[in-house]
Amino acid sequence: MNGDCVLGLRGLTKRFGTMTAVEDVSFEVRSGRVVGLLGRNGAGKTTSLRMLLGLTRATAGTATVFGHPYQDLPRAAHRVGVSMDGINPLPGTTARRELRVWARALGLPSSRADEVLGQVGLDDRADRRVKGYSTGMKQRLALATALLPDPELLVLDEPANGLDPDGIRWLRTTLRSLASEGRTVLVSSHLLAEIEQTVDDVVVVQRTLRYAGSLDELTSGGTRALEDRFFELVGSPTVRENTGA
Ligand SMILES: Nc1ncnc2c1ncn2[C@@H]1O[C@H](COP(=O)(O)OP(=O)(O)OP(=O)(O)O)[C@@H](O)[C@H]1O
Ligand SMILES: [Mg+2]
Repeated sequence: MNGDCVLGLRGLTKRFGTMTAVEDVSFEVRSGRVVGLLGRNGAGKTTSLRMLLGLTRATAGTATVFGHPYQDLPRAAHRVGVSMDGINPLPGTTARRELRVWARALGLPSSRADEVLGQVGLDDRADRRVKGYSTGMKQRLALATALLPDPELLVLDEPANGLDPDGIRWLRTTLRSLASEGRTVLVSSHLLAEIEQTVDDVVVVQRTLRYAGSLDELTSGGTRALEDRFFELVGSPTVRENTGA
């Protein structure tokens, strides 16, 4: 399934004062693919995704989703499911209430909230207050929110963080099955082993773009370890390159 271009970054750059977080990053994502955005802490993954979604203004360059800047995309909230750090429900609410509010805002029946709660395995805890949730439960709720509109594209920032082995296996299966339905997934992670089992394509960033292409090509058909290739692209673990200098 190597479909149309779903999203594209062209020369995307973000400076915070004198510090360059993302520099001249360009890549495209095609429909029906699961794409892993990889990079170490501070590499610019979240900043790139925030620019893609219009949450952070780019210093230079452009990003488009389904051919439009995200903020101009018609029915964006229906077409793109998002799970990002820093987009959190109010602590006093419950998962079911939170999802029903979103469902109403999207014009969906409240039964859709119950459906996604089942899909992410939260249905038995859905009526508890979010402030008592574990990290993994919060992560599952964030995924439920992203899945709510049954979107064509999912943009997920570190969705595997805090998930237990069951959760990670579930996430992998869910992402693969979404892609098999022709949906597209852009997922950031620093869990290389996890990514290796989940994605078709890989984008590696370390302030600048280091690789964009198929996982198979990067690992020479699985004969090279992804971890080794990763460090060849971003530098050895002791070298911190993204100082913004
Ligand atoms: N609002 C901000 N103001 C100043 N600097 C920022 C801001 N947001 C991010 N940065 C800096 O930009 C760089 C990239 O951060 P970013 O959050 O995009 O990294 P990341 O790849 O998502 O890392 P992680 O794996 O830790 O989530 C970091 O050096 C970070 O300190
Ligand atoms: Mg991040």
